[in-house]
Amino acid sequence: MRKYAEMTREERQTEYAAVKAAYESQRAKGLKLNMARGKPGKEQLKLVMEMGTILQTEEDYIDDGLDSRNYGTVDGMPAARRLFADILGCRPEQCFVGGNASLQLMFDTISKAYVNGLLHSEKPWSKLEKVKWICPVPGYDRHFKVTENFGFEMISVPMTATGPDMDMVEELIRDPAVKGMWNVPKYSNPTGIVYSDETIQRLASMKPAAPDFMLIWDNAYCIHEFACEFQPFGDILSLCEKYGNADMIYEYASTSKITFPGAGVSVMATSEANLAYLNPLINIRIISYDKINQMRHVKFLRDKENTLALMKRHAAILNPKFQAVLNALDREIAPLEIASYNRPVGGYFVSLDAMPGTARRTLQLCREAGVTMTGAGATFPYGKDPQDSNIRIAPSLPPVEELEQAIAVFCNCLKLSALEKLGL
Ligand SMILES: Cc1ncc(COP(=O)(O)O)c(C=O)c1O
Repeated sequence: MRKYAEMTREERQTEYAAVKAAYESQRAKGLKLNMARGKPGKEQLKLVMEMGTILQTEEDYIDDGLDSRNYGTVDGMPAARRLFADILGCRPEQCFVGGNASLQLMFDTISKAYVNGLLHSEKPWSKLEKVKWICPVPGYDRHFKVTENFGFEMISVPMTATGPDMDMVEELIRDPAVKGMWNVPKYSNPTGIVYSDETIQRLASMKPAAPDFMLIWDNAYCIHEFACEFQPFGDILSLCEKYGNADMIYEYASTSKITFPGAGVSVMATSEANLAYLNPLINIRIISYDKINQMRHVKFLRDKENTLALMKRHAAILNPKFQAVLNALDREIAPLEIASYNRPVGGYFVSLDAMPGTARRTLQLCREAGVTMTGAGATFPYGKDPQDSNIRIAPSLPPVEELEQAIAVFCNCLKLSALEKLGL
C-alpha cells in the first residue's frame, strides 16, 4: 500500500474508485451499527445480573444500624463509603456516596458553587462577571456541556502524552477568574492517556489565584484496565493535602462501567471540610439517594480486591473488541499515513486524529452507510474542533462481528475523505 500523499492524482483517482465501490456495497447492506458511546455490551451486563436478587433478608438492608430502606444519611451508607474509600485509596469520611451517576454529582457541585459559592468562595459564581474553566482537549463531551451550561468561558489546553500541558495550566491559574479544571487522570476520555506522576504532582501543588479553584478529578476509569494488569494509582486527596490544597480537590467515580450504567452508584471524594459545607446544601435538593442500590453494590462488589476480579472479567470481553478496532486501523489506515491513533490499555475509547479537515466528512459518510459514531467536534469545548480532525471510537457496545463490519466501513470513510481532501 502506498501513502496517499505520495500518490499521483491519477493513482488517487483509481484508488478512490476502488474504495468507493467497496463503500457502496457496504452501504447497500442497510447496516445499523453503533460506535458512538462508551456503553458496556450485553455480555458485560450479564456478569452482574446477580445484583438484582442479592438483597434477600432484612439484615441485608441494614448497615451500622442504618436502614437503607428509609430516608436518611444524605452522604450514603457507611459500608458504601468504605467500599469507595477502599477503591480510591482515601478515607471513608472523605467519601460522599450519591445516586446513579457521577456526572450528576459533578454538575451539582458546580451548581452549588454557582448558586451558593464553595467553602472558600468570596461570593457565588453567579455574581461574578466571568468564570473561566480549563478544558484539556480532546476531552469528554459531557464535561464540556456542563461548563458550557453554566456560561463559563472554556479554555482549551492540549493533552500531551503525560497529561495536560502543565506549563499552560500553571500560566492560566494566575488569573483569578479561572475557577476550575476538568481532569480524567487515568485512561482519559477519549485519549486513553494516563497522567504521569510529574503531572499529578504539579496539579496537586498548584497555587491558583482563585481561592475556590476546583480541581475536578474524574476518576471514571480508575480500575478499568482491559489489556494489562491493574495499575495502582495514588490517593490524590492526600497528595493535595500535603501541598496545603485539601479543599481544592473534588474526585469522582462511579460503578457505571463496573455494574450497570445508569443504575450504578457514584461517589464524590473530597476534604471533610468541603463535605461539612456541602452536605446541608445537597440536602436541600434531596433527602437521601437510593441507599438500597448502594447496599446491593456493597454486597455484590464487597471490596477493592473482589471488584478488581470482576474488572478482569469485563476486560476479557472488552479486549478483543479494542483489538479488532486496532487491527483494522493498523492494517487499513496506518500504511496510508492519513490518521494517527492511540493504543489504549484501559478506559472505553480509541481516539483517532484524521487528516485535518476530514473528521466531519468521514463521519457523514459513516452515517450514510448506517454506522453511528460520536459527532465530529464533540471532544472539544462548544463542539468545535479547530482542526476538524479528532474522532472518538467507542468499541464496547457491538458484538465483535458487528464491530468488525462497522470499523471496515469507518476505514473506507476515512480513506474516501482523505482522498477527497488531497484532490481528485
Ligand atoms: C470521563 C467520564 N466521566 C463520567 C462518565 C459518566 O459517568 P456516570 O455514569 O457515573 O455519570 C463517563 C461516561 O462515559 C466518562 O467517560
